[in-house]
Amino acid sequence: MEQAKKLSVRERINILLDKDTFVEVDRFVKHHCTNFGMEQKRVAGDGVVAGYGKIDGRIVFVYGFDFDVLGGSLSAANAAKIAKVQDAALKNGAPIIGLNDSGGARIQEGIESLSGFGEIFYRNVQASGVIPQISAIMGPCAGGSCYSPALTDFILMVRGESQMFITGPNVVKQVTNEECDKESLGGTEVHSTKSGVCQFACDSDEECLMTIRELIGFLPSNNMEDAPVHPATDEVTREVHELEGIVPANPNVPYNIKDIIEPICDHQYFFEVAPNFAKNIVVGFGRMAGRTVGFVANQPQVLAGSLDIDASEKGARFVRFCDCFNIPIVTIEDVPGFLPGMNQEHGGIIRHGAKLLYAYAEATVPKVTLITRKAYGGAYIVMNCKQLGADVNLAYESAEIAVMGAKGAVSILYRKETPEQQAERIKEYEAKFNNPYCAAELGFIDDIIAPSDTRKAIIKALECCRNKNQSNPPKKHGNMPV
Ligand code: HXC
Repeated sequence: MEQAKKLSVRERINILLDKDTFVEVDRFVKHHCTNFGMEQKRVAGDGVVAGYGKIDGRIVFVYGFDFDVLGGSLSAANAAKIAKVQDAALKNGAPIIGLNDSGGARIQEGIESLSGFGEIFYRNVQASGVIPQISAIMGPCAGGSCYSPALTDFILMVRGESQMFITGPNVVKQVTNEECDKESLGGTEVHSTKSGVCQFACDSDEECLMTIRELIGFLPSNNMEDAPVHPATDEVTREVHELEGIVPANPNVPYNIKDIIEPICDHQYFFEVAPNFAKNIVVGFGRMAGRTVGFVANQPQVLAGSLDIDASEKGARFVRFCDCFNIPIVTIEDVPGFLPGMNQEHGGIIRHGAKLLYAYAEATVPKVTLITRKAYGGAYIVMNCKQLGADVNLAYESAEIAVMGAKGAVSILYRKETPEQQAERIKEYEAKFNNPYCAAELGFIDDIIAPSDTRKAIIKALECCRNKNQSNPPKKHGNMPV
């Protein structure tokens, strides 16, 4: 495939923003470094273009690096430019978008440029949870140019053009003797499938910039506002007949959870986040009755939908994002449990799984859960059960809510019995637990619904919690198991 064209920083900003809305600040700023002949390399703007403009009529702040100016390296002067727009974005409650294309701290400036990153990181953290922060990686980004994006809410990369690493291939070779190139070290594939650093892998600069515009459309401008409301042009009581029979009768047969999410969204449109990382959990945004909803769902097609380390982290981070920005969370659950194994245990599934548990329990936005099939054990608890503060919990008749699957339970309780006796026990266990009625009897499930009623039942549940006003006990901050 032909490599898509890399755009200049100004072309990028023009595509990102509504036409003729960009207002540039600090275009006359220059660096003041005189080390290593740098006084000969002073250009107006010093390789960062910064300012503000609009996306769909709403104000956003933006800065972008120009790789053609000393590799987009960060000088103290352009760090000050970025800090200025970060401050303005925070003061004015508007999202900030960074278009990164930078070799990190400008080496010739030494500690001065390094301290510039400190200024930026500090502001990233102050703004975290107050305004949405979005980072596009649009070229090779090294050192501090990775850590600022890592502190923001979403990272987008462009295939074949973007890389992220703390130290480049040369340093890696010197220190660890590993042979790699920029792409194998930190290319888009690596970060969107393996490390989970990047949530959106795009095929071109244009696609990346349009994806940012779309993402912004789902989000409020700050944590005191709600996301923009669209006219509810898709019938809110629409029955979704294709969902009847969507859950296979055989509990071991997988199905695609997106076949449930998509048709219940307005106009069947689901905007998935991090689709290629930890595919056993699906997260993303949709609209229901015109309002933004964050979906979190187990994916029975991958690892039977079980929760492993990566899925727990991916889910936790998304739940926390939604909670910061007043976005209701709809959880769709079909989960046999946490993924067992030495790898997972030694990798710390206990503390990583606890992140998801923590995130759900801490979230005070409206929380609705639908159990489609398996809801076993700790994973039932984690995936937004009533006891973690869920507002409305629904189930299909095909739901199985139990401490564990029938086979596993019988092998523990009746391990001394003959295979024939065990087979009987399994049937007995299934009859008792392979349904949602025990949980519904106890009030842990509010209602059992027909699959075709999923959209209208969830919309009604969200409507009932629209004015939810709940807060956690006052504290400086909790101590999430990070
Ligand atoms: C000054 C830099 C620079 C830098 C690149 N350039 N990075 N100048 N400071 N940090 C210059 C190059 O010298 C070159 O100048 C031009 O930019 C283009 O760079 P190339 O190497 O030719 O481009 P490319 O082959 O695409 O490689 C890009 C790169 C590589 C992978 C980013 O340049 C690189 O590894 N740079 C150093 C990365 C790094 O280690 N940064 C960390 C800094 S420390 P000419 O004049 O030849 O065109 C840091 C602290 C962070 O950031 C703290 C975090 C907690």
